[in-house]
Amino acid sequence: MKEKLLELKTKALKELESVTERSDIERLRRRYLGRKGLLTLLLKRLPELPKEERPPIGRLVNQVKEELTGRFQAVTDSLTTNDVKEVSAFDVTLPGRRTPLGHLHPITQITEEICNVFLKLGFRVVQGPEVELDYYNFEALNMPKNHPARDMQDTFYISDNVVLRTHTSPIQIRIMESKSPPVGIVAPGKVYRPDSDISHTPMFHQVEGLLVDKGVSFGDLKGTLTTFVHQMFGPDVDLRFRPSFFPFTEPSAEVDIRCVVCQGKGCRVCSYSGWLEILGSGMVDPEVFKVVGYDPESISGFAFGMGVERIAMLKFGLDDIRIFFENDIRFLRQF
Ligand code: FA5
Ligand code: MG
Repeated sequence: MKEKLLELKTKALKELESVTERSDIERLRRRYLGRKGLLTLLLKRLPELPKEERPPIGRLVNQVKEELTGRFQAVTDSLTTNDVKEVSAFDVTLPGRRTPLGHLHPITQITEEICNVFLKLGFRVVQGPEVELDYYNFEALNMPKNHPARDMQDTFYISDNVVLRTHTSPIQIRIMESKSPPVGIVAPGKVYRPDSDISHTPMFHQVEGLLVDKGVSFGDLKGTLTTFVHQMFGPDVDLRFRPSFFPFTEPSAEVDIRCVVCQGKGCRVCSYSGWLEILGSGMVDPEVFKVVGYDPESISGFAFGMGVERIAMLKFGLDDIRIFFENDIRFLRQF
């Protein structure tokens, strides 16, 4: 009986060593110390022993019971504290959390690309106000009040004399007022018009260009803009200069490039013409030079204003300009 008791104790302690879950400890405890447990069964056999052996064995049973109870409690306690430790521990092997990085809007990217081409050609980058005086936006550009050319660029009026600029051309006047020739600048920025369809938005971006010096010719204008188109779209892309009219240039031309959406076959983006207008341009009108105090007899210059969204559409092969401003992250992520 004594041997059986000690054997049982050893076995119980050994099994307890390999236990990791609290539920397993409880199962073991019941197996050895429960009401129908192994120790209780041994105790029940006590009367089978000779009278004189009963007291020492009885004491031994109680001793083993106490010892095992103590051990079970200790192991339970240690598992509990380990549990807590695991929850609050910092796991150094976990991969770090990334901060999601944004990037520049495709229109900003294209604006920078356009300016970079002109920077390489020796132009400087300047900026002007988006909320502009009627004087700079229209009047000084040879578009007096009631001039019919204002119709196409009717705009948002802040007051009778303050407007949201309809083009970046007012920067031409501002720069020539502040500086004598030679002048060579490009000026990117937002402009506003009451337009809205698949190739027009009420807010869009232009990059203005102006070069004034002695002996600047229409040939310089053609060469500069052709170089620009070939730098932006590759040397094989078709472009054409189409006669046009602006009150502040004479002669004037608009530049179209072959529609990349339909390869010139005609589609809704190019209004089935095969060409898409990207900019207006021309030789600076002598009237404009007079307004800023330049002498039209001794200098000449050219200017242009291009639509950044149009250029971005052509570069990325997009068929609806409005997608740029819907802020759909699935679209923006692709750039
Ligand atoms: C002008 O705005 C003139 N200031 C350009 C200019 C500058 C001519 C200097 C001569 C000398 P226009 O209205 O055509 O021109 O607009 C220029 C370009 O802006 C167009 O070729 C087109 O690419 C783009 N554009 C015009 N309206 C919109 C619009 N609503 N949405 C998107 N792009 C537009
Ligand atoms: Mg135009």
